Amino acid sequence: MRIVSGLKRLGCVALLLVTGAAPAAAQATQQSPPPAPPATAPYEPSSGQQGKDVVWVPTSEALVEKMLDLGQVTASDYVIDLGSGDGRTVIAAARRGATAEGIEYNPDMVALSQRKASEAGVGAKASFKQADLFASDFSKATVITMFLLPDINVRLRPQILEMKPGTRIVSNTFTMGDWEADKQETVSDCMSWCTALLWIVPAKVEGTWETPSGTLTLTQKYQTFTGTLGAAGITGGKLDGDKIEFDANGVHYAGRVNGTTIEGTTTGAASGTWKASRAPGA
Ligand SMILES: C[S@@+](CC[C@H](N)C(=O)[O-])C[C@H]1O[C@@H](n2cnc3c(N)ncnc32)[C@H](O)[C@@H]1O
Repeated sequence: MRIVSGLKRLGCVALLLVTGAAPAAAQATQQSPPPAPPATAPYEPSSGQQGKDVVWVPTSEALVEKMLDLGQVTASDYVIDLGSGDGRTVIAAARRGATAEGIEYNPDMVALSQRKASEAGVGAKASFKQADLFASDFSKATVITMFLLPDINVRLRPQILEMKPGTRIVSNTFTMGDWEADKQETVSDCMSWCTALLWIVPAKVEGTWETPSGTLTLTQKYQTFTGTLGAAGITGGKLDGDKIEFDANGVHYAGRVNGTTIEGTTTGAASGTWKASRAPGA
C-alpha cells in the first residue's frame, strides 16, 4: 500500500510538472512570437550575371525598339523572346499591343519580369515562362526576338527554319551561321550591342516542280535558290517568307508558295500568270 501511494504521489508530481509546463510554454508562445524574418530586398539582377547558357546582359531600350521596328511588330503579332532576362523586350512588344511571351531559365528574372510587366500596365498582354529555351516549343510565334550567342542561334536554326514561312526572327548583334540576315540596322550613339538583325523564315521550295513552261528544279539555300526552268538557267532566285521571285528566259516570275503549289504573275518577255505544282514524290 505504501509503495502504491508513493507511486501515486510521484505520478501527481509528474502530472503537476507536465500540466504546469504546458501552459507556461503556451504563454511563452503567445507572449513572444518568433521574430519576423528580415525583410528581403527586391531582387536586383546585375549585368553579366550567370545564366544557364548565356549570361544576362540587357539589350538597351533603344535597340529593343529598333528590333521591334525591324520585326515590324504590331498588335496582331505573337512575340516570343528567347531568354527574356528582365522582360524588357516582351514588355515593349506588349506596349505595341502585341501578345508577348518571355522564356527565361532564371526564376528570379521571371518573377522580376512579371512584376515589371504589371507595373507597366501590360500584365494582360505579357507573360513569362520559367523554362529552358532548348526544351520549349516556340512555334506559335510570329516574331522571335533574342540576344543569345552565335552558336546558340545556330543550334536553334533548324527549329526556326521549321516555323511558318514569313515568321520574323530578330537578333541583337549575333548572327546565325551561314544564314545571312535579310536586313540589319544599327542604333546611333551606342557603345556595344548596337545592331539588330532580321531573318524571315523562307518557304521550302527545294526540289522539282511542274509548270506549263517545263520542269522547275530548285536548289535552295535559306532565302535564295538556283536551278533551271526547262533548259534555261534561273537567276535572281529569292524568297521573302512565302513570296518567291526569279528570272528565266527573260521572264520575271513572282508569286506565292502555298505548300505544294506556287501561283503568281510573269512580267518581262511574257506577261500573264503562272502556276507550279510539286512533282509527285519530289
Ligand atoms: C543576354 S541576356 C538577354 C536578355 C533579354 N532578352 C534582353 O535582350 O535584354 C540572355 C538571357 O537568356 C537567359 N538564358 C540563358 N540560357 C537560357 C536557357 N537555356 N533557357 C532560357 N533562358 C536562358 C539568361 O538567364 C539571360 O537572361
